[in-house]
Amino acid sequence: MQFAFPKTVIAQHTIQQILSRIDIVEIVGSFVKLKKRGTNYLGLCPFHNEKSPSFTVSPSKEIYKCFGCGASGNTISFIMEHEKYSYVEALRWLAQKYNVEIEEKEVSAEVKQQQQLADSLFIINNFAREYFSHNLLESEEGQNVGLAYFEERGFTKETIQKFQLGYCSNERDTFARTALSKGYNLDYLQKTGLVAIRNEQPADNYRGRVIFPIHNQSGKVLGFGARILVKNDRAPKYINSPENEIYVKHKVLYGTYFARHSIDRLNECLLVEGYTDVISLHQAGIENVVASSGTSLTVDQLRLIKKYTNNLTILFDGDNAGVKAALRGLDMAVEEGLNVKLVLIPDKEDPDSYVQKIGAPAFRQFVADNKQDFVLFKLQTSMQEAGNDSTRKSQLVNEIAETISKIDKVEDFTRQQDYIRQCSQLLKIDEQGLIMLVNKFIRERLQKREQQLARNAPPDDDNALSDEAIAAMEAMETGVEVVFSTDEKQEKELVKILLRFGDMQFSEEDHNTVADYVFHLPYDFESLADSEIVKKILREYKSLYDGGNTPDRKWFLYHQDPDISKNTALILEDKEADLSVNWKERFEIDTVYGDNAYLKDTISTTNYLILRKIKKLILENQQEMEKADTFDVQMKCIEVHQHLKQLEMELTQGIGTVIFR
Ligand code: CTP
Ligand code: MN
Repeated sequence: MQFAFPKTVIAQHTIQQILSRIDIVEIVGSFVKLKKRGTNYLGLCPFHNEKSPSFTVSPSKEIYKCFGCGASGNTISFIMEHEKYSYVEALRWLAQKYNVEIEEKEVSAEVKQQQQLADSLFIINNFAREYFSHNLLESEEGQNVGLAYFEERGFTKETIQKFQLGYCSNERDTFARTALSKGYNLDYLQKTGLVAIRNEQPADNYRGRVIFPIHNQSGKVLGFGARILVKNDRAPKYINSPENEIYVKHKVLYGTYFARHSIDRLNECLLVEGYTDVISLHQAGIENVVASSGTSLTVDQLRLIKKYTNNLTILFDGDNAGVKAALRGLDMAVEEGLNVKLVLIPDKEDPDSYVQKIGAPAFRQFVADNKQDFVLFKLQTSMQEAGNDSTRKSQLVNEIAETISKIDKVEDFTRQQDYIRQCSQLLKIDEQGLIMLVNKFIRERLQKREQQLARNAPPDDDNALSDEAIAAMEAMETGVEVVFSTDEKQEKELVKILLRFGDMQFSEEDHNTVADYVFHLPYDFESLADSEIVKKILREYKSLYDGGNTPDRKWFLYHQDPDISKNTALILEDKEADLSVNWKERFEIDTVYGDNAYLKDTISTTNYLILRKIKKLILENQQEMEKADTFDVQMKCIEVHQHLKQLEMELTQGIGTVIFR
């Protein structure tokens, strides 16, 4: 069998041409009848059945969103979903619509190879999915064994079809032989884990097992979980696909493809352990659910959830050991800014068995009634452990105050106040007292940091205190609202400036643009940035800029990588990412640049990021100096120090632009 791989890609300037022509109202309007409502448009959602319209299109944000089913996206994702096109197919469709001539370019050999490999694995997985599913529904063994098993577990035909469940016959190599006879490559079959070599012959790896395909966010099959049917102590209950070019376990959550709209709509993600938990809950109409597949959560998985919602509710099976282990990993989720809630499913049950036992309405009610906040849950558990031991109790108060003091993201400020209120009630202590205690921890960390600075030592991470924390502390005491200026916001501000003003003129003498200015500074902002998404966007922007195609906002808004398109929309939308008043005041540059606010923003944002880097370099140099054992090295360090201090001074005085030219 021969596969047709794309040997060319659409040239970047063609893509830019297409994107610049996009008019979301026109495109979506050619599939959906839209009526103007204020600044937006309204129509009947094409992605679910409805009688009264809840599908809105915003021309200014260039997005659509359905308040009924939760479907949302931009013009390209609309065409992809509606016409079942790939990203490239959607682009070609638009090109035709707008009469843009497509120029194609050869892809590099290396990229081509990677693409081919990934495509081959997807194609094989898709073939296997169809094969196993057909086998389950049509073959005698499939029906008698696989289908009977699923039916006994209460799965309906619709559910089985929706989740594309399958069965692999209990024979040595039926699947392997079929796949090979159709021309699928043996190496790739092994890479997907579908086929293994046993006694020098290809053999089916999942024989006699029911098959759960694992989908990516757009519904393509990344891999499989294969469950044994009879209890067997010598064989594993599940055999899962090995990691390969397309299946990277720590980035995947089972069920995201089926759950994403519902998570978006309900603004909550339920997390369970197993494949069967996801499927049973879906069947019961609870669709905002994904599974960690029995492992502890990774940061990547948390970020995957964060794309859709900040509210994570974890349903734990009744056994205590699992809960204790999971609680340890959950601090990470709190640090990521997720609101984590816990629900303990009664003993000996899991979400699958429990929903089947008590029914969907009772299950929903149970979850609603038993949802506990993670931090409070932790406090309660430790309080039970402490009992009447007063030493242990006061220890506890201190611990919880310290935890609360660490919540220092701007958007979490209200949450911090909530915690203080609730924890003081639980602990039966005075709320004002707890506030003071929390502030004591913040202040202690502040003092420690200052002492470290005075001793020229680098701050250790644990004691690092963000500007936000200090501001939050002040706000808590005075009750005033604070304007925050955070590092991440400055990084995002740079992205925003480039996307909005990248090709605007920067100075009058030469014809430099804002992008020219940014990329000719002797600093690489991609490596200066901490935020992964900012790095990703800057990297791509720079490479396009280097190739002579300065991209605009549409390039990123309509990006194939949903991480990029979604975040670009957020960055462009985020008013708070604008510079804080304080910062503008510190760089007295208003007078120099008159009304061209974007020039001021460009300079103060780049200065901020450079300054941050210089401060880091100063600290590093000071460490170096302390370690220095020869006079020469010390002198060198002192020189560097003086130079850096000079730079720092010039930057903070707002004349930084001159020295970097
Ligand atoms: N798991 C696994 N390998 C195993 C056991 C479990 O990969 N040997 C993963 C699977 O993703 C499974 C999840 O951990 O879905 C939860 O395990 P478990 O609760 O044992 O399985 P269930 O999915 O609940 O399956 P069942 O209801 O059939 O027991
Ligand atoms: Mn189960």
